[in-house]
Amino acid sequence: MSSLNLFRHKLRRLRYPWLVFTRWIAARMPKGLYGRSLIIIIAPMVLLQSVVAFVFMERHWQSVTQRLSSAVVRDVAGIVDIIETYPQDTDYETITRIAREKFALNISILPPDPLPPPNPKPFFSILDGILSQQITRQIDRAFWIDTVGDSNLLEIRIQLEKNVLRVYVKRNQAYASNTQIFLLWMSGTSLVLILISILFLRNQIRPIQQLVEAAESFGKGRELPKNFKPRGAQEVRRAGQAFLVMRERIERQIEQRTTMLAGVSHDLRTILTRFKLQLALLGKSKGVDELQNDVDDMQNMLEEYLNFTRGDGDEETSLINLEEALARLEGEAELNGKALRYNLEGRNTIKVRPGAFGRLLGNLVSNAIKNSNQIDISAIRRDGWLNMQIDDNGSGIPKASREDVFKPFFRLDEARNQDDSGTGLGLAIARDIARTHGGDITLDDSPTGGLRVILKIPA
Ligand SMILES: Nc1ncnc2c1ncn2[C@@H]1O[C@H](COP(=O)(O)OP(=O)(O)O)[C@@H](O)[C@H]1O
Ligand SMILES: [Mg+2]
Repeated sequence: MSSLNLFRHKLRRLRYPWLVFTRWIAARMPKGLYGRSLIIIIAPMVLLQSVVAFVFMERHWQSVTQRLSSAVVRDVAGIVDIIETYPQDTDYETITRIAREKFALNISILPPDPLPPPNPKPFFSILDGILSQQITRQIDRAFWIDTVGDSNLLEIRIQLEKNVLRVYVKRNQAYASNTQIFLLWMSGTSLVLILISILFLRNQIRPIQQLVEAAESFGKGRELPKNFKPRGAQEVRRAGQAFLVMRERIERQIEQRTTMLAGVSHDLRTILTRFKLQLALLGKSKGVDELQNDVDDMQNMLEEYLNFTRGDGDEETSLINLEEALARLEGEAELNGKALRYNLEGRNTIKVRPGAFGRLLGNLVSNAIKNSNQIDISAIRRDGWLNMQIDDNGSGIPKASREDVFKPFFRLDEARNQDDSGTGLGLAIARDIARTHGGDITLDDSPTGGLRVILKIPA
């Protein structure tokens, strides 16, 4: 048991650096579809080309150079042999001419001075190595070579019995030198390919971006971008069409519900009005006042139910003045004998659906009014967001219930507010409105002891 745990522990320690590494990579990878698809196209191309360049080219280059060097050295070996075989020929004219005309080698015979000290080996030259190896194998005399000095010519000196043979060879006679051109072609064509794929990718990705924008603006209850049309690859076009069908169905449903509720509300309101009139005719008495209050409550509740089911999908957005909205809330608190202070930072205006936004603030503040007597509102309108905190000094909401209170018809502590006109819909409606604006509502503790409601809306 404990050894198993130890093993697990070790495994986890081993996996840790790997996790860190993958996270490091993931953090540096592009997040967008465009960047990712480019990587998917470019990475294999670069990999393939590198492999081709390093494995194939290196070997090809080496073997061609080997063959060329070996041929040159064979010619030189022949010349050495002839010089040694005919020592009586001392002016070397014939052999020099043959070397020049038949082998394209420029030779001369030097006095038998000792060979210069060997050159330092160039760092990255396969030619030097291959040539030395070939001379050792085919001629087997003391030699000296210079592959670096003159860029066009190689110099080879070979110690003969009575003198020194010096050979100048054209570099490209012994060395495969057109490799660079091949590499250039390869990277050139892949650059062109990458450019072409960038162009094609842009066209493939634009419809997806348009779909994202359309879905986002629908989610926020805004108009679809103008000239939105399903476009692009088959799957993307299908997603676009499905989105349009879905949007239409949702809108139709909302519309049906709204017309039905408009009818119901009209009928009920008519009856309630009649009720009120008849109550007014009854004159003043304690029982009648109570009935009248009940009818008022009923009217409020009815309005709230209607608001909840009606939603706010069909309202147009417009610019409203935040300062005025806050002042109105202050007035409402005053009417109820509660103190409300507010503080607004940043821009004064915000683009929202005015009716819905008013209902949202009204619901939050009416809760605070009902549950406390001191309300502080701070609104910060900055960086594309409205950040609002409504603090009260009331009873607050225990942490465990802070999600539940957003559920429709959920009311905390039924006994506490038994006979007020609540429906348990206020927060549900408020959050719904915040979300259709692309924002949200959360709850926290208020520094003044009660509940803090945090409202965030992109603006
Ligand atoms: N500011 C607040 N302080 C304390 N409790 C609150 C506050 N706001 C809401 N609540 C609790 O959350 C419940 C749900 O609120 P809400 O959805 O507005 O319904 P309603 O106000 O109709 O009861 C309320 O019944 C109340 O108990
Ligand atoms: Mg409420």
